[in-house]
Amino acid sequence: MPTVVLGVTGCIGAYKACEVLRELQRRDVDVHVVMTEHATRFVGAMTFEALSRHPVFIDQFALGADGDIRHISVADAADLLLVAPATANTLGKFARGIADDALSTLFLATTAPVLVAPAMNVNMFRHPAVIENLEMLRARGVGVIEPGTGYLACGWLGEGRLAEVPEIVDAAMAALQRRRSLEGESVVVTAGPTVEDIDPVRFISNRSSGRMGYRLAEVARDRGAKVVLVAGPTALAAPRGVEVVAVRSADEMAKAVLDKAAAAGIVAMAAAVSDYRPAEKAASKVKKQDGGQKLDLVRTPDILKSLGDSKEKRFLIGFAAETERLLESARKKRTEKRVDLMVANDVSRNGAGFASDKNAAVLIDAKGETELPLMSKRELAERIWDRVAELRARP
Ligand code: CTP
Repeated sequence: MPTVVLGVTGCIGAYKACEVLRELQRRDVDVHVVMTEHATRFVGAMTFEALSRHPVFIDQFALGADGDIRHISVADAADLLLVAPATANTLGKFARGIADDALSTLFLATTAPVLVAPAMNVNMFRHPAVIENLEMLRARGVGVIEPGTGYLACGWLGEGRLAEVPEIVDAAMAALQRRRSLEGESVVVTAGPTVEDIDPVRFISNRSSGRMGYRLAEVARDRGAKVVLVAGPTALAAPRGVEVVAVRSADEMAKAVLDKAAAAGIVAMAAAVSDYRPAEKAASKVKKQDGGQKLDLVRTPDILKSLGDSKEKRFLIGFAAETERLLESARKKRTEKRVDLMVANDVSRNGAGFASDKNAAVLIDAKGETELPLMSKRELAERIWDRVAELRARP
């Protein structure tokens, strides 16, 4: 039975959390409730205790049974943290990492997926501080159940009304399902650029930051997969719980990927692999001479193509970073390399691509094409794995 930790914050919509709790129980979910002090002014803790049949967690300094540290044990037990309703105050604390009560502390301590259902006055919801906090949370993978529009408790008309109970419950159930969508799966993800040395101080490389691959690896891990991340040089921190194989050149990446792919059911090639390398690496620094200089280049192995050629049942995800004729080139690459899902993105577009933490893409597969608007790379990674789950469920 999955465990949902239901966070309830101080807002008039708090009473709806009782219905959310009951609906989740009807779907065989065990619900534990964490309330903020403010929430207890709207609904008594006794109500949630009686409904959930578990103690309600309010005071982060309360001692748990047998000296248990509650915010850690509750955080560890959660398959999902669902905060409904989520006030502007709590969202602000989540975004900025402030941990001054049981719920905000638990938010930092849990590795479970988090869903928030904001509820507040329309002007508060449109305040730049709230907009920025929500954007920050989304970019880090927090799911936001958008509030509805209508008459608000304060008398204003506009957006900010807590989403309807069935919508919240459906989102929670979908998040629980996603959490297990790669359970038992071995996944290899590549990320970053490759670096092809010319001599001991010079090299050929590209502008890939590695972010897309890192986000893909993190989301796969969060969904239960055993993940190997084969990464070219990047400035990013190694994701926890992921085996990182650091490589430099396309040749090294090819060797590592082909080795690790033997045990993998899915390979996602997000790396920007150099198509050429210098024919030879000079042993010492090349000295300048009068006149021009020519560099002899040879092709590197096409890793994705060799995986496609020996594919069997392995699911392949490829990336096509283009600056022109996006769809045409991506479709061609998908069939040529026998890729199941091609993620096509226009790297010349403003605000997207290499240096950015955002990207827009078109997912191309045998069933069709899905256009995804500009979103954080974390959200894009979620959407890519969602599509993988759909395609693998209905081959
Ligand atoms: N790829 C690879 N091995 C290479 C080159 C690319 O595995 N030597 C993978 C990339 O990781 C990506 C996809 O292939 O998933 C990109 O396809 P590709 O046709 O190689 O794209 P470009 O290198 O951008 O090709 P072109 O310059 O022809 O557009």
